[in-house]
Amino acid sequence: MLPFTFNTILLFALYLLGLSTAADTTTSPPASVFTYTSSDGGDGYGNQSFVFALNVDQSTSDLYIHMSAPAGNSWMGVGFGSEMQNSFMFIAYASNNGTGVTLSPRVATGHSEPSYDKDVSCDLIWANDLLNGNEVTNGGGASTMNLNAVCYNATKWANGALNIGDNASKTQAMIFAVGPGDSHGPNLRSDDLSAGLERHDAYGSFTLDIPHATSKDSATAGVPRPNGGTNNSTYTLSGASASQPKADHDPAPAIHGFIMCLSFLIIFPLGALLLRVLQRVILHAIVQAVGLFLVCCATAGGIVISTQYNRSKNFASAHQIIGILLLLALLSQLGLGILHHRIFKKTQSPTLLGKIHLYLGPTILLFGIINAPIGFVFAGNPHLCLPYAILLLLIIIVYLSIRFGARICCRGRRKQQNGAAGGADGYQYPQFGPSGGQSQGPYSQPPPAYGRQPSYGPGDDVPLRPYESQHSGLAAPPAGVSAADGVGTGSVLYLA
Ligand code: HEM
Ligand code: HEM
Ligand SMILES: *[C@@H]1O[C@H](CO)[C@@H](O)[C@H](O)[C@H]1NC(C)=O
Ligand SMILES: *[C@@H]1O[C@H](CO)[C@@H](O)[C@H](O)[C@H]1NC(C)=O
Ligand SMILES: *[C@@H]1O[C@H](CO)[C@@H](O)[C@H](O)[C@H]1NC(C)=O
Ligand SMILES: *[C@@H]1O[C@H](CO)[C@@H](O)[C@H](O)[C@H]1NC(C)=O
Ligand SMILES: *[C@@H]1O[C@H](CO)[C@@H](O)[C@H](O)[C@H]1NC(C)=O
Ligand SMILES: *[C@@H]1O[C@H](CO)[C@@H](O)[C@H](O)[C@H]1NC(C)=O
Repeated sequence: MLPFTFNTILLFALYLLGLSTAADTTTSPPASVFTYTSSDGGDGYGNQSFVFALNVDQSTSDLYIHMSAPAGNSWMGVGFGSEMQNSFMFIAYASNNGTGVTLSPRVATGHSEPSYDKDVSCDLIWANDLLNGNEVTNGGGASTMNLNAVCYNATKWANGALNIGDNASKTQAMIFAVGPGDSHGPNLRSDDLSAGLERHDAYGSFTLDIPHATSKDSATAGVPRPNGGTNNSTYTLSGASASQPKADHDPAPAIHGFIMCLSFLIIFPLGALLLRVLQRVILHAIVQAVGLFLVCCATAGGIVISTQYNRSKNFASAHQIIGILLLLALLSQLGLGILHHRIFKKTQSPTLLGKIHLYLGPTILLFGIINAPIGFVFAGNPHLCLPYAILLLLIIIVYLSIRFGARICCRGRRKQQNGAAGGADGYQYPQFGPSGGQSQGPYSQPPPAYGRQPSYGPGDDVPLRPYESQHSGLAAPPAGVSAADGVGTGSVLYLA
């Protein structure tokens, strides 16, 4: 009890001391303050504000800033100029431990992620009269990122400059933006000054009165203090124009990811099933062609998205390389399938091309399925990997039950019709795996479609080769049924 009281008193005394020193030594530097308060979106967190305050030390070209925004945003940023191009920006996000703040000075060259400007050095600044200095305050969606800092000699940058002194503008064009996130706290945490950013959730422009924010010498320069509210406890608009920011959402990455997942999780496996279970060669070809078309479109989208981000603009990431190789492999798969089909029609015998097609298919599927979680991590959405894994598991279960369920259900029928022939009758059905195409063990069951065979009439568009003709050694299919190539002849193919 006693130590506790003593400590409390001591801390309180130190606290008072701290407060009074601060009050004694700090004068509020001249500053222009921009604020934007969004109305309560009904999320129960109240109105939330974006604040940017600037003080310019004319003698050193040092820029002192205060910036704050709701921590539900992955990053907050302010730049000089009326648009992104050639703008010098202060961008801040939560530090690696989630409670500090990282300030990254960057330069933008256009409508793409700004790059860290290593020519500018900045320091964070703490002071007792600066509230919530350089931290992410907790409290769910109501939490805030706060930054107080100085960037030294920062009025000139690679592709532009800020006019200060005599030529300083009273209506200096400025831009601001916040990154996407969720209401549970920052989803970008990094100490890396080049950390990858997601495109903004909202952006806007305003003007700042630079002369109003200028200190003639270093003695009066410093981080702008809170200038409003009760007892100067908050920042209010001063020397700045108000702004109505624009919501901005880029759906492209999500569409890209969705179409890719749709293709590799559903369409290609479906195409494989159509061949393996139903033996519908034409349907197999059509479905896989649709999948290929979608993958082409989504890849084109992926290439456009890639140009927006530093992490992807060099096309050197694993996700992009795997993706492009997969596209090439898919195109080969199409070529192999068509060539095999044509040769088979003439020779009625298995081809090497068919065999490659058989093995390449599942390989492509496997790498496509793996490339999606790599994409989620790449896009800064690692939390999507778990739902993806669950979905994948469900799809695998459904796939396997159709594949093997169908086989079990048809085994009896087959035995009835073929006696004890079992798998040794020369029937070779395309297989997934190293024994593919070989007539061995349980894999040499005839396809379930066999059971439906008698129902095909002359006008049917699914010209399956009758199992009987195989079995009895009739190699040539009846006229008009050429599309049955390979199926049931041991030549293999069409998986995926
Ligand atoms: C990953 C980073 C970023 C990307 C990919 C990006 C991309 C884009 C794109 C595509 C537009 C055009 C949007 C439209 O036509 O509606 C745009 C506009 C804009 N962005 Fe960004 N941006 C990024 C970061 C930033 C940052 C950090 C700021 C502010 C500090 C910012 C401020 C603005 C503003 C004010 C506009 C409208 C004016 C203009 O067209 O330049 N952006 N951005
Ligand atoms: C098998 C092929 C591919 C699959 C399965 C795939 C899947 C995905 C997925 C699931 C995402 C995450 C989307 C999000 O969370 O918003 C993603 C992101 C991305 N993908 Fe792919 N992708 C493939 C191929 C490609 C290719 C060929 C490129 C470009 C050359 C590419 C470029 C990108 C980029 C740049 C992103 C990140 C976008 C961002 O940073 O926000 N992808 N991809
Ligand atoms: C939010 O702002 C609106 C007006 O912009 C005001 O009517 C409302 O009282 C504010 N809510 C809170 C919680 O401050
Ligand atoms: C978190 O990181 C920041 C910046 O790196 C540092 O200032 C702060 O002390 C750290 N906080 C904790 C609790 O480690
Ligand atoms: C400030 O930066 C400029 C280039 O941007 C450089 O020429 C100048 O020497 C720097 N001044 C100081 C004091 O570092
Ligand atoms: C202000 O602008 C004028 C004309 O553009 C230029 O001659 C002068 O050097 C500038 N002054 C400063 C301090 O940059
Ligand atoms: C403002 O300051 C005065 C005098 O220092 C004090 O009495 C008052 O409680 C303060 N108000 C708030 C809201 O802190
Ligand atoms: C707030 O600060 C300004 C100077 O920045 C001062 O003039 C004003 O009196 C202060 N107001 C209160 C209520 O402390």
